[in-house]
Amino acid sequence: MNPLSSHPRATSGVLAPEPSASGKACVYYDGGCPLCRAEIATYQRAEGGDALRWVDAHGCVPDELGAGLDRPAALARLHVRRADGVLLQGAAAFVEIWSNLPRWRWLARMARVPGALPLMDAGYTAFLRVRPLWRPAPGSSDPRPRELLRELRTDHAGETGAVMIYRGVLAVTRDPALREFAQHHLETERRHLALVEQVVPPRWRSRLLPIWRVSGWLTGALPALFGPRVVYATIQAVETFVDRHYAAQVPMIDALLQRPAAAGAALPDLPALRAMLEKCRLDEVSHRDDAASRWDGRGGWLLSAWQQIVGRGSEVAVRFCRYI
Ligand SMILES: [Fe+2]
Ligand SMILES: [Fe+2]
Repeated sequence: MNPLSSHPRATSGVLAPEPSASGKACVYYDGGCPLCRAEIATYQRAEGGDALRWVDAHGCVPDELGAGLDRPAALARLHVRRADGVLLQGAAAFVEIWSNLPRWRWLARMARVPGALPLMDAGYTAFLRVRPLWRPAPGSSDPRPRELLRELRTDHAGETGAVMIYRGVLAVTRDPALREFAQHHLETERRHLALVEQVVPPRWRSRLLPIWRVSGWLTGALPALFGPRVVYATIQAVETFVDRHYAAQVPMIDALLQRPAAAGAALPDLPALRAMLEKCRLDEVSHRDDAASRWDGRGGWLLSAWQQIVGRGSEVAVRFCRYI
C-alpha cells in the first residue's frame, strides 16, 4: 500500500491541494490520545514548532480541519496540510513535521532513504492497532482528573500485586513464622485491594493485571524458595517503594483540594480518598518495619542487588500502569 494514499480521497499520494490561508503547514492530531498528545507536545516545544499550526482534531470545530479532511479521518491517522495545500497523512505527515523542525531534520532525511517511508508507515499502522490500549474506554466520564485516575490505577495494580506476593510466599514456604507473617500481611493487602477497588472503576484498571498478578506471585514465591530472610528483605524493599509511592500522591490530592472547582460537588470524595491513601501508606510502613525487624539487614551484595531489582522493578511497573 502506498503510505500516502490510504485516505479514500487521496489521489497519487496526496489530496487535492488547497493552499493554507496562514501560510503555515498545519498538523491535525488526535488530542484525545495521551500518546499522540505527548508526542505532539514534544514537537510543539521544539525549535521551529511555532512555524507550524497545530489543530487538535479531537476538540476543534469541523471548519478547522479544512477541505478533504473529516474528523474520523483526522482522528484515525496523523495528517499534515503543507503550506501549498497538499494533504499528507501517516508516515509522510510525520516526515513533513520533522522537516520543519531543525533538530528533527535528520529523521526526515533518513525517511527519504528508498524503502524507508513504506516501512515507517507499516510501523505506524501497527501502532495504531494497539493505540486504543492507551485510551480510556468510550463513555468513561469520571470527573476526577486523568492524572489522579492514572495514579489510582497504579494503586489498584500495586495492591493486586501485593495480594499475590503473599499468596506466592504461602504457596512455597512451610516455615511457621513466615507463614504467620505472610497470612497477617495478606489480610491487610486484601483490605487495601477492596478499598482501592471501590475508587477505581473497572474501566480504569490496568489492562496488564494478569502480568502484575504473575509477577507479584513470583516476587513472593521465588524468595520463599531461599528462606525467610530473603522474603523479609524482599518485602522490606517492596514496601519501601510503596511508602514513597503513596506519599507522593498525597500532595497531588492536596493540590486538587486547593482548587475551588475541586472542592465543590464535582469531586466530593477527595478528602476520603486522601485519608484512604494515607491509611494504606501507614499500613505499608508497618509492613516494611515488620519485615525489617525480622532479619539482620546483612544479606551480602546478592541480596542487596535483589532488593534493588525489586525496587526498580516496582518503579517500572508503576510507569507502565499509568498508561496501560
Ligand atoms: Fe497494600
Ligand atoms: Fe503492604
